[in-house]
Amino acid sequence: SADGIVLDVGQGTTSHNRTTQKVLFSLVIPTFNERDNLQTLVAQLTSILDTTVPGQYELIVVDDDSPDETWQIGLELAQTYPQVRVMRRVGEKGLSSAVIRGWQVAQGEILGVIDADLQHPPQVLLDLIAKVRNGADLAVGSRHVEGGGVSEWSIVRRFLSRGAQVLGLLILPNVVGRVSDPMSGYFVCRRAAIADTELNPRGYKILLEVIGRGNFEVIDEAGYVFQERTAGASKVTWKQYVDYIHHLLRLRSRGRIGKIRRNFPTKAFFRFALVGLSGVFIDMAVLYLLHTGLGLPLTRSKILAAEVAILNNFVWNDLWTFATISRGQKGWGARLKRFLKFNMICLAGLVLNVLVLNLIYNLIFGQRWAYVANLIAIGLVTVWNFWLNLKLSWRV
Ligand code: GDD
Ligand code: MN
Repeated sequence: SADGIVLDVGQGTTSHNRTTQKVLFSLVIPTFNERDNLQTLVAQLTSILDTTVPGQYELIVVDDDSPDETWQIGLELAQTYPQVRVMRRVGEKGLSSAVIRGWQVAQGEILGVIDADLQHPPQVLLDLIAKVRNGADLAVGSRHVEGGGVSEWSIVRRFLSRGAQVLGLLILPNVVGRVSDPMSGYFVCRRAAIADTELNPRGYKILLEVIGRGNFEVIDEAGYVFQERTAGASKVTWKQYVDYIHHLLRLRSRGRIGKIRRNFPTKAFFRFALVGLSGVFIDMAVLYLLHTGLGLPLTRSKILAAEVAILNNFVWNDLWTFATISRGQKGWGARLKRFLKFNMICLAGLVLNVLVLNLIYNLIFGQRWAYVANLIAIGLVTVWNFWLNLKLSWRV
């Protein structure tokens, strides 16, 4: 599209007058009304980066003409820290576009982004930079791998966040499925992987744009705990959710995902389906035992039967289907977490099964062939269960 932005491959052009060493790492800090956070952040960042890329980094504050004059704080900081550069944008707005504009003037061959509000712990940068230096094209700060998490999020907020991820997996599996935390706004990447590609500055989730349009062979992740804000306010509104769906659809029709085809894990899927079949027999047997045998009410019996089947399936999938992954994530805590996720996905799958069954039954088969309809529904739900569990419960 006409309003995309293309980074050049080499170093960005800038009026920057520094005469020290070559810049290796450029970190963009997008800001909007962050005057109470910037100083602390810059102090922490410099002390951390001085240990790993001393004299070879720059911090680029991209401020959208904040009413609280964050840019002014930035300029003052630049007096003390020569590695700080400030871009005050008037007329252009938005988180993603701020990041892309910052990268445009960046000189480093490794690019990064971090929130200004201290919700992204700066020390994780050490891991992220190390991973890129060790061969990754992209290293993403993730709340969903070991060492990651969210500090004080309510169940509702966690659910919304995961719901957005599931939606993304359905609409854009080849992009969203490549990382455990596609909503992350904390990452480091090789400039070469996104140079010469057009990045669209609309949309709030810059990482989606980067993965969707860039050229990445190796993607790595490092855990981080998303901190609570202590100063300033979040800029997220309901509009961002609508924006997110637009972004997914835009990338779907115009991204480069068409070119990427990853091998489908056929063996694991076959095992998963087989385990699922064993679950059907267990479900039947327990239902018979409880309802016919012990005389328990049908609904109660069925719920218990389903849970026993889910437990059975989990054990087999953990020990057999995804054995290589579970072996790397030992311990009862990790196992319990996998089980809870598996359980949740399977229950959602059950609801989906009933919905799809009704849909096919009523719309396509015209009230006949109920069992064929159910077979199709089961097939679809098996794929759903497999894919989501692969991406959420047993991900490498
Ligand atoms: N220049 C500019 N322009 N900066 C902005 C804008 C804008 O329009 N909107 C937000 N920012 C800056 C904020 O000042 C902050 O530094 C950062 O972008 C994140 O904005 P928040 O409003 O604090 O977002 P959040 O806390 O809900 O979510 C952030 O963290 C998530 C988890 O990693 C975002 O970065 C998400 O993208 C990220 O996934
Ligand atoms: Mn924030």
